[in-house]
Amino acid sequence: MVRKLFRNARIYTPRDLGEPLRGRDQGSLTAFPEGALLVEDGLLAAIGPEKEVLDRVAGGQLCQEVDLEGMCVIPGLVDPHTHMCFVGTREREFQMRCEGTSYLEILAAGGGILSTVQRVRQAREEELLAETTGRMRKAMAMGTTTLEVKSGYGLNVQDELKMLRVIDRGARLAGADVSPTFLGAHAIPPEFKNSPGEYVDLVVEEMLPRVSQQGIARFCDVFCEEGVFSPDETRRILRRARSLGLGLKIHADEIKDTGGAKLAAELEAVSAEHLLAASNEGLKAMAEKGVIAILLPATALSLRKPYARAREMIQMGVPVALATDCNPGSSYTNSMLLVMALAVLGMGLSAEEALVASTINGAYAIGMAQKVGTLEVGKQADFVVLDGETPWIIPYSLGAQSSVRAVYKRGERVS
Ligand code: NIG
Ligand code: FE
Repeated sequence: MVRKLFRNARIYTPRDLGEPLRGRDQGSLTAFPEGALLVEDGLLAAIGPEKEVLDRVAGGQLCQEVDLEGMCVIPGLVDPHTHMCFVGTREREFQMRCEGTSYLEILAAGGGILSTVQRVRQAREEELLAETTGRMRKAMAMGTTTLEVKSGYGLNVQDELKMLRVIDRGARLAGADVSPTFLGAHAIPPEFKNSPGEYVDLVVEEMLPRVSQQGIARFCDVFCEEGVFSPDETRRILRRARSLGLGLKIHADEIKDTGGAKLAAELEAVSAEHLLAASNEGLKAMAEKGVIAILLPATALSLRKPYARAREMIQMGVPVALATDCNPGSSYTNSMLLVMALAVLGMGLSAEEALVASTINGAYAIGMAQKVGTLEVGKQADFVVLDGETPWIIPYSLGAQSSVRAVYKRGERVS
């Protein structure tokens, strides 16, 4: 057995109460100011005050002992909403947006998502793999040890399956835990421009069965937005996905309120994501059904829109998670550190609330809470050593990578 002791740490972790944390629990952490962690074969065997953990160690052999010099230790960050499987950037489009053209105008003119679709369709699998794996590794160096990646730049059977294969291969190469999501309904591809209904048929009748048959996605997501997929189309796709055993997610009310939040509650989706324009009615329905709000403040910043109403959501009892949305259009970052800083400085969360949103609530949003999201006995020893005394170092340093001193995945140092 590989046994490792990490001592002299200030540990901050949420507790896993068996469901996403909300309301007052959203901001509650357990702290061990003079703490230690005992890791056995990559799992946490003991965690708590150093004295107690040392008692557990007594007698047994240790392979390694690490003195963390009083630095703060938090669970590995979980990024539950990314589109990081793509090739190429879209800087010119970013410039156009800064000069006043809107995101939906660019998409309607055949740019935006569709220009990345063209690049991804043309790319060889190995090329897509190299870029995707590189992004996963960079995210890990910034403390993200578990993440979700969506397909959605293939928009035909062959290229959606190519993306899902790459997501799986990339995860193995990078050593991250990755939850793959099928997002075939991300945009209407150019060949269906004049018959969008037929594309919905293709998603429902061909793509979903193939994806489910191959077992390479856990969730199905739909971009429910004006001019993209309507609530009725979204409902049809997600019902089919559910019947095939996939969990449900919705890109809801990102730009316009089309009733996405309400639909997520109606379908009892695991999460509704974005929610910049969500109505109170929709949020109330989410709270009632325990749908997790995945908020993406780097997207709001990049689109220069007001942030989602995170404080009100917490007040209403909606469990809140945070994510990067890493994609070449609306949020070209894979840093959960930046996202946490924006959540504190832009949305008014405390660092404790932002940490819960970036660990255990994210883990619930991608069905991985039994393995990751908190530092508790039996879970994976995925943790980040911060160059500070409390989680506040992250927003305090404006999400700078220098706030991370080391990253461990299953007890192994990865950065
Ligand atoms: O979450 N909204 C749709 N999808 C992404 C953007 C993808 C892209 O622009 O390439 C998002 O913002
Ligand atoms: Fe997104």
